[in-house]
Amino acid sequence: MAANASFAAALFIGISLILAVTAEDPYRFFEWNITYGDIYPLGVRQQGILINGQFPGPDIHSVTNDNLIINVYNSLDEPFLLSWNGIQQRRNSFVDGVYGTTCPIPPGKNYTYILQVKDQIGSFYYFPSLAFHKAAGGFGGIRILSRPRIPVPFADPAGDYTVLIGDWYKSNHTDLRAQLDSGRKLPLPDGILINGRGSGATLNVEQGKTYRLRISNVGLQDSLNFRIQDHKMQVVEVEGIHTLPTTFSSLDVHVGQSYSVLVTADQPAKDYYMVVSSRFTSAVLTTTGVLRYSNSAGGVSGPIPGGPTIQIDWSLNQARAIRTNLSASGPRPNPQGSYHYGMINTTRTIRLASSAGQVNGKQRYAVNSVSFNPADTPLKIADYFKIDGVFRVGSIQPQPTGGGIYLDTSVLQVDYRSFVEIVFENTEDIMQSWHLDGYSFWVVGMDGGQWSPDSRNGYNLRDAVARCTVQVYPSSWSAIYIALDNVGMWNIRSEFWARQYLGQQLYLRVYTASTSLRDEYPIPKNALLCGRASGRSTRPL
Ligand SMILES: *[C@@H]1O[C@H](CO)[C@@H](O)[C@H](O)[C@H]1NC(C)=O
Ligand SMILES: *[C@@H]1O[C@H](CO)[C@@H](O)[C@H](O)[C@H]1NC(C)=O
Ligand SMILES: *[C@@H]1O[C@H](CO)[C@@H](O)[C@H](O)[C@H]1NC(C)=O
Ligand SMILES: *[C@@H]1O[C@H](CO)[C@@H](O)[C@H](O)[C@H]1NC(C)=O
Ligand SMILES: *[C@@H]1O[C@H](CO)[C@@H](O)[C@H](O)[C@H]1NC(C)=O
Repeated sequence: MAANASFAAALFIGISLILAVTAEDPYRFFEWNITYGDIYPLGVRQQGILINGQFPGPDIHSVTNDNLIINVYNSLDEPFLLSWNGIQQRRNSFVDGVYGTTCPIPPGKNYTYILQVKDQIGSFYYFPSLAFHKAAGGFGGIRILSRPRIPVPFADPAGDYTVLIGDWYKSNHTDLRAQLDSGRKLPLPDGILINGRGSGATLNVEQGKTYRLRISNVGLQDSLNFRIQDHKMQVVEVEGIHTLPTTFSSLDVHVGQSYSVLVTADQPAKDYYMVVSSRFTSAVLTTTGVLRYSNSAGGVSGPIPGGPTIQIDWSLNQARAIRTNLSASGPRPNPQGSYHYGMINTTRTIRLASSAGQVNGKQRYAVNSVSFNPADTPLKIADYFKIDGVFRVGSIQPQPTGGGIYLDTSVLQVDYRSFVEIVFENTEDIMQSWHLDGYSFWVVGMDGGQWSPDSRNGYNLRDAVARCTVQVYPSSWSAIYIALDNVGMWNIRSEFWARQYLGQQLYLRVYTASTSLRDEYPIPKNALLCGRASGRSTRPL
């Protein structure tokens, strides 16, 4: 009786905690219709994925802690899901929108995502996570502004632009998918888009004013270099962290990454080239847009400014130069540097090595030899309903095995509230980029060669940036520190999209035996159920 009463009291406190948090924070409502429609980004007609008729999709504008209610109608002829790159879905991996956490929205049906941008600021994006849909569109920018009384370490810009850059194929996503399904690699992309356009994307500015550009690489595989003729840019934010303002004449944005830069229109009034070109590729793809002064005396002129192409050190040095402003506020009023990540001992080191090869005569990609094979039921949902046989923890080793590639539903279990080191190891001669859902992590080090414990001597334990997508240079490693304070099932994936599609991903199961609402929310009442969870009830267990 006493035990029951205190359980009830704990439950009540837990529920009021949630209600207290969500009731005060504003709601923003979105109704999105996902359709096919003709687009011509590289001059040829293609079937694109539109949101409310738009390609790219509409931007989401929000403020820290806002509740976002996004009702998505799938008017395609295939199951569809959106995922929210960098939005942490605290205690709520059910709404993450990848196949390991969320049932696909069937054709002709809708599903309402109930998200909260809890304790976050910065620049992110959303994208369609299933079936190579990302090659057809369905992506858009997400910005989270600071709450009014929390200082931002730079003056309010005169304008704030989303700049989505990415490589692009002239083939549609069903043709690309068919090539991958038949066991072939994809050819190189055909071009690069800026805000959905193969050329001529324009940003309008007024002379003398300063603008914020939120640049995200929403492409499928290529690292991209961004630059504006005769203009400098100052990096001020990286995936939710305010950085020390660092000035560059061009910036590498690896696939999946987001940056905010400030650009001042301090040149004679005319039009200037905005250039995006591919990095580390044998044939360099280049596209141009325009930075147009309102009192422009004329169109773009002069040579298109060149940028780095295959230089790795240039990019590595740039990455190391971008650091956290420790005294600036992030989403909360206290300084970002008040959490001393470098003084916490890690309890575990996980090494994730990528590999490529064939299984049964078909191209596959793997992490620690396991090529991810989706289960018949989302892993998080199977976990919630305790449905056995969908996945096994320990289906992937926490370090490279050196063995050949095999298929499995890879889930790596880690302890809630532990502080771990993850090393991404790249022994291949290609550029890689890795993303972790549910978290922001400190990028403590990256370098060429093989990682060893001695590599820790070179870590930045003071002012590294915290972000959600990290690049790994060819024949190099990148190391991150992460505080595992968000219970759930979280996707770790290659952002090289053909590799992700062919198995280069896994799930991190951040586990606690606690069933307290302080640790994790129950499955949302409106969650779609599928696979072996079909017919179950989403009412509290
Ligand atoms: C979505 O768009 C399609 C095509 O325009 C239309 O037929 C359908 O009624 C729309 N659905 C919703 C829910 O708006
Ligand atoms: C993709 O293009 C092929 C022809 O190459 C066509 O048969 C198919 O219907 C197209 N798919 C979509 C979704 O547009
Ligand atoms: C589908 O949309 C309707 C409103 O048109 C809404 O009431 C319903 O909750 C949505 N379904 C889901 C599963 O979110
Ligand atoms: C770092 O942030 C603080 C607090 O907002 C600000 O005063 C300072 O100018 C920033 N540092 C630099 C180098 O911009
Ligand atoms: C970290 O580990 C070192 C060496 O084992 C130990 O001396 C130190 O007290 C630990 N620090 C913390 C914060 O636990």
